[in-house]
Amino acid sequence: MTADRLTKRERFLRACRAEPCDRPPVWFMRQAGRYMPEYRALRARYSMLELCRTPELAVEVTLQPVRRIAVDAAIIFSDLLLPLEPMGVPFDFVKGDGPVVSSPLRTEADIDRLRPVEPRDAFAPVLEAIRLVRRELQIPLIGFVGAPFTLASYAIEGGHSSNYAHAKQLMYGRPDVWHRLCARLAAMAADYLRAQVESGVQAVQVFDSWVGALSPADYAEFVQPHVRRIFDELADLGVPRIHFGTGTATLLELQREAGGDVVGLDWRVPLDQGWARIGDRAVQGNLDPALLLAPIDRLKAGVADVLRRAAGRPGHVFNLGHGILPSTRLEHVQAVADFVHEATACASGTAN
Ligand code: CP3
Repeated sequence: MTADRLTKRERFLRACRAEPCDRPPVWFMRQAGRYMPEYRALRARYSMLELCRTPELAVEVTLQPVRRIAVDAAIIFSDLLLPLEPMGVPFDFVKGDGPVVSSPLRTEADIDRLRPVEPRDAFAPVLEAIRLVRRELQIPLIGFVGAPFTLASYAIEGGHSSNYAHAKQLMYGRPDVWHRLCARLAAMAADYLRAQVESGVQAVQVFDSWVGALSPADYAEFVQPHVRRIFDELADLGVPRIHFGTGTATLLELQREAGGDVVGLDWRVPLDQGWARIGDRAVQGNLDPALLLAPIDRLKAGVADVLRRAAGRPGHVFNLGHGILPSTRLEHVQAVADFVHEATACASGTAN
């Protein structure tokens, strides 16, 4: 019993370090959210931003999936966009439209007006939520931040975008200003993650969700140096660093070079092929979140395929290729976690 508990505590962190473990650990991006009835009940009373800014509520939402699903890690409930507000870019979540930034950054003057952020002040509620969650949790807690391209794209476009026209216009037209903006965002990201680790998170994930919009050459020129700086600045903390993106099939080698102990793979790349390009580091992924909407047999076949491609090698963190969709049935999420745990155990002791 004790050994089993210890294993559950260690499984995720061991896999992140590409060490052998008894079974692949599993967690889900967006494991807290609208697909859960208890989350929807809280959202009927509080806005998304109220949930993020009230430590007791953020703790409750963080723990909701942990109570219901056999996950091996929790992720602190917050949002990637929270740092925009203290930097001077206010936004809100608008029903049906997602995040909306009232005055998007467009000019050099807009970017030079950005305010420096002291994470211990600006993110005090998130850091307090981290300290409180740690008291309740038997499994590791993951902290996170948005990567420069993904954050910049919201700040410049003003919301979700399909072609990133304004962001790319700035990137190509004023590369000096683009780099200044990304340097600011990278510095904030590194400081914020450091503060999260000091408050108790045991792993960190850098979300570069929309970076797949870039060609490899543009990634190398406009993004990679800034992402590398974040990972380099966190090296001394000794916690696993997860580097996540989507649409990254042509960028994996460049992402690996930028850093991270674990590289995220989305479902567009078969896991074994993606892993071969990542090398000896750990990988996280890569079930298509839409498969959770499929009949259970089809869903289980998808999970089995991911596990077959991982082949029990040390260093696989089971996850989706992107976040859980709001229309997902909770029972399907539970079934995936259980199925991963019941399936073939990780290789014990050997590398292959
Ligand atoms: O994963 C988790 O459980 C932790 C919480 C978390 C949320 N957002 C909660 C959330 C995390 C890690 C994020 C990251 C995030 N936020 C990303 C990167 C990950 C990704 O999905 O690519 C991005 C791009 C955002 C920005 C953001 N926040 C968008 C685009 C939206 C709207 C989405 C939509 O479908 O309406 C949000 C809102 C948001 N963040 C919700 C949740 C649970 C839904 C809010 C609600 O209850 O209405």
